[in-house]
Amino acid sequence: MLRMIAAASALMLAACQVETPATKPDSVTAAQAIAPILTTPDAVDVHSHAKPLDARVTHLALDLAVDFAAKRVGGTATLDIDAKPGVGTIILDDKGLEIEKIAAADGQALRFKVGTPDEHLGAPLEIAMGAARKIVITYKSAPDAGALQWLTPAQTAGKRQPYLFSQGQAIENRTWIPTQDSPGIRQTWEAKITVPQPLTAVMSAPKVGEPATTGRSRQFAFKMDKPVAPYLIAIGVGDLAFRKLGPRTGVWTEPAMLDKAAAELADTEKMVVAAEALYGPYQWGRYDLLVLPPSFPFGGMENPTLTFLTPTFIAGDKSNNSLIAHELAHSWSGNLATNATWSDFWLNEGMTTYATTRIVEAVYGPKVAAQQISLGHDDMRKAVEENGGAAGADTRLRIDLKGRNPDDGLTDIAYEKGAAFLRTIEIAVGRAAFDAWLKGWFARHQFAPVTTSLFLADIRQHLVKGDAALEAKLMLDAWVNQPGIPANLAPADPAVFAEVDTAVSAFGSGTMPDTIAWARWTTAERLRFLTRIDRKQPVDRLEALGRGFGLARAGNNELRFAFLDLAVANRLDPAVPALEDFLLTQGRRKFVRPLLTALAEDPQWGRPIALRIYPRARPIYHPVTTRGIDKLIGPS
Ligand code: BES
Ligand code: ZN
Repeated sequence: MLRMIAAASALMLAACQVETPATKPDSVTAAQAIAPILTTPDAVDVHSHAKPLDARVTHLALDLAVDFAAKRVGGTATLDIDAKPGVGTIILDDKGLEIEKIAAADGQALRFKVGTPDEHLGAPLEIAMGAARKIVITYKSAPDAGALQWLTPAQTAGKRQPYLFSQGQAIENRTWIPTQDSPGIRQTWEAKITVPQPLTAVMSAPKVGEPATTGRSRQFAFKMDKPVAPYLIAIGVGDLAFRKLGPRTGVWTEPAMLDKAAAELADTEKMVVAAEALYGPYQWGRYDLLVLPPSFPFGGMENPTLTFLTPTFIAGDKSNNSLIAHELAHSWSGNLATNATWSDFWLNEGMTTYATTRIVEAVYGPKVAAQQISLGHDDMRKAVEENGGAAGADTRLRIDLKGRNPDDGLTDIAYEKGAAFLRTIEIAVGRAAFDAWLKGWFARHQFAPVTTSLFLADIRQHLVKGDAALEAKLMLDAWVNQPGIPANLAPADPAVFAEVDTAVSAFGSGTMPDTIAWARWTTAERLRFLTRIDRKQPVDRLEALGRGFGLARAGNNELRFAFLDLAVANRLDPAVPALEDFLLTQGRRKFVRPLLTALAEDPQWGRPIALRIYPRARPIYHPVTTRGIDKLIGPS
């Protein structure tokens, strides 16, 4: 029997989500809750081949061995399935998996067909399961699986052991896990992972027991008994050490990185406490962080129980710590209440960006938070410009991604326009009322998919409550469905950067920032300066700025990037060696893609530099980083 929410009205949707699960003797554990699926048209995921209303995966059990020589993970995936009576077929997502066989739990082989692959989505994997509701897939991932990056010992901090990590969001996990890879189809999961000695495997789930050693390998076990979106399944394998940060927080990283990482992350437990005070109990047990090698393509990734982080956030002074607040906030926005499809990505990232500034405010104070909001407004305006201006279709919060890789539509609009929208509501209704609503939103939609229409219905029911004047003031529909920035935007506080903004104007007429002031400025203030000065600069002035404040090799990578970005835009030759080092020593997409793109698009000055650097840099970049850059520069 398929359990789903068939209600037409969003109000009923909310009410239905607390149904008690049916006990299903033919399925996994009888008591296991099956997460709800939304049935409204706006919850149809155009980035998955699955037809979850006919047959859906409810639980996934992996038993995989990690083969560094072959660059493959292989073994079995056992799926528990919930299907409509009489349905004998299930469709999974498959991008390049090498499938050996598929069988029912009793060992009987099942027929299957891999359909025509789509460039972005991969292929539908159609399995004739008949009456079986538990199936076992024996398979391997391909060596070029898009979710996985295999690092040689030389590409790690310790230089002695290889390393493997995954990045599932948005639609990459189908390259190593045969399941229905759609954020609206939540699954519980467990895994047994066999790795060569002396490596350690960590995953985005509580570990079960201690590793079992057999011969030259060790097997680690994990179990996630809460239903999660499959993009949140993640693995890291390497020479890993752990250090406790607080009662339920800790850091995993290579031994050589442990001291630095633990020092930078020292406020983590405080942040969890602050987040719980705002949004209710932290529901995932432990909150650990894995600080990855510099190839990690993102700043962070909110894998449940184990946030993945770039080592480039380490500045020595905790100045990039809002990244931790951000990934932690996803434990509510994203991991509890999850965008049903990538069109509603703003519900994950906009809410998280808003919540980040609230956690930052609680831990580091209102001025730090207000400065971040102000920087966020600049990023929002830039994102509007880059996405077609005030009329650009991709400047809407809910976007149309059909036929595209969701990655291409996931811009700062979701993050910064989303956050600005929520802050506008907060200021209109008052903080107490808004906080109560947001906490309630997470409680009402925990472990469930959410859509923009569900958001609108929920906020109308629980916050607006029929108040026509408030409804008009909030402009809810304009925010989510119209391009550009609605007129009721709550402005950022112009006073928070007053001193820096004066220095920005002075620089425009040739005056360098005061050395003593610069030394006192926070990273946010320095970033404001670098992102607010004219993009086109006289080369000698830019060079003097860079030299005066050591910007091309700044210890804070956000600052270093902001300066190198200006350097490329102004063809600053003396910055090229530092630029080259930056591109060759880390692979964070947000840093390397804009720099390499700007170089590649400058045929005379930049392109030869890009052509020289990229072939050497590419081996340390993750597939999600190289994908876009290859198109510009070519893979070799
Ligand atoms: N979930 C995202 C990363 C992501 C988004 C991966 C879309 C793949 C597709 C993560 O939480 C994130 O937003 N990271 C940011 C952090 C920043 C906004 C503080 C990043 O990596 O830059
Ligand atoms: Zn995020």
